[in-house]
Amino acid sequence: METTERTTSNAAGWRPRPVVAGLFGLFLLTGCAGDSPSALNPGGTGATRVAGLWWLLFWISVAVFVEVMALLVWALVFRRGNVRVRHGQPLRFVTIAGAAIPFVILVAVYGVGLRDLAALGAAPARDAPTVEVTGHTWWWEVRYAGASGATANEIHIPVGEPVRVRLRTDDVLHSFWVPQLMPKTDLISGETRETWLQAERAGSYRGQCAEYCGTQHAHMAFLVVAQPRAEFDAWLARLNAAARAPQTDAERRGQQAFVQGTCAGCHSIRGTGAQGKVGPDLSDVGSRWSIGAGAVPNDAGHLGGWIANSQTVKPGNAMPPQPVPAAQLPDLIAYLRSLE
Ligand code: CUA
Repeated sequence: METTERTTSNAAGWRPRPVVAGLFGLFLLTGCAGDSPSALNPGGTGATRVAGLWWLLFWISVAVFVEVMALLVWALVFRRGNVRVRHGQPLRFVTIAGAAIPFVILVAVYGVGLRDLAALGAAPARDAPTVEVTGHTWWWEVRYAGASGATANEIHIPVGEPVRVRLRTDDVLHSFWVPQLMPKTDLISGETRETWLQAERAGSYRGQCAEYCGTQHAHMAFLVVAQPRAEFDAWLARLNAAARAPQTDAERRGQQAFVQGTCAGCHSIRGTGAQGKVGPDLSDVGSRWSIGAGAVPNDAGHLGGWIANSQTVKPGNAMPPQPVPAAQLPDLIAYLRSLE
C-alpha cells in the first residue's frame, strides 16, 4: 500500500528531498543577513581575517567541486564504451590534476593560514587597555587593569582600538569567543592566556562560551559593547566609583534588605557593606543586558523570578532559592534595577 502511494506521488512530480534541501539552504543564508552574530558578519579586525580565510577556502572548495563534477559528467556522458587510451596520457592527467594542482592549492592555503595565524597571535601594544576576564560556571567576571571594580557578562571596549584580553578560569575549561570580533581562546585551569580584540564599528557584539563546561554552558553568554573612547572612559571611571546611592524609600529599603540579608554573603555592591565574592558583582546590574549570562532578559519580572528561585530559570547555577518575604521583594527589585 505504502509503495503504491509513493509511486503515485513520485509520478505527480513531487520530489521532497531537493525541496527540503533548498529550503534548508535558504534558511542557512538567512543567518548571513543584517546584524547576525555570525563569524561571517565580522565587525572587528580579527574576525575579518578569519572570515577572509573562510571565504577563500569556501570558493576554492566550490571550484574543485564544480571541476570534479564536470569531469564526472564528461566521463559518464561522453566517454562511454571502448575508448582507446594512448600510453602515458592517464599518467600525465593524474600527475597534473591529481597531484600538482592540489599541491599548489594546499601550499598556498597553508601560507595564507600561517600569515593569518601570526597576525591573530601578535600581542597588542603595551599601552592597550587590558580587560581581565575570569570564567566561572556559568558566568564571566570582568575586571580592568587599573580599575578596582568589577562587572559581569559585559565587556566595554573603545571602538577602533586593540584591547588586550587576559583570560583565566576559576574552575573548569571554558572558551572565550566573540564570533564577530575574534576567534576562540580556551581558558585553561591554572593558566593565564592572552588574546586581543578590536571592534571597527560601535555597537554590541554577542560572545559565547565555546567549550562545553556543564549543564548551563549554553547560558554562558556575554556582550561586548564597543563605544567611542570618551564614553568608554566615562564608563570605566564609574567602575572605580561607589554604586549609585538609593534615591527612593523603596530603593533604600531594598538596599537594607540586600546588605543585611543573605544576598551580601555572595554578592558585592561597591560603597555598601555587601562584599561577597562568590557571585557576580552587582554594582551596575540594572544596566546589564541580561540576567544569568544570557539566560533571561533583564527586567523587573525576570529579576524577581531570579531572586526568588533562579534554579527554575538556570538549573544548577550556584545560587540557591532565596526565602525573601513577599513584601521585601519589590524593594529589592527596585534597588537592583536602580543600579546603573
Ligand atoms: Cu563555559 Cu561553556
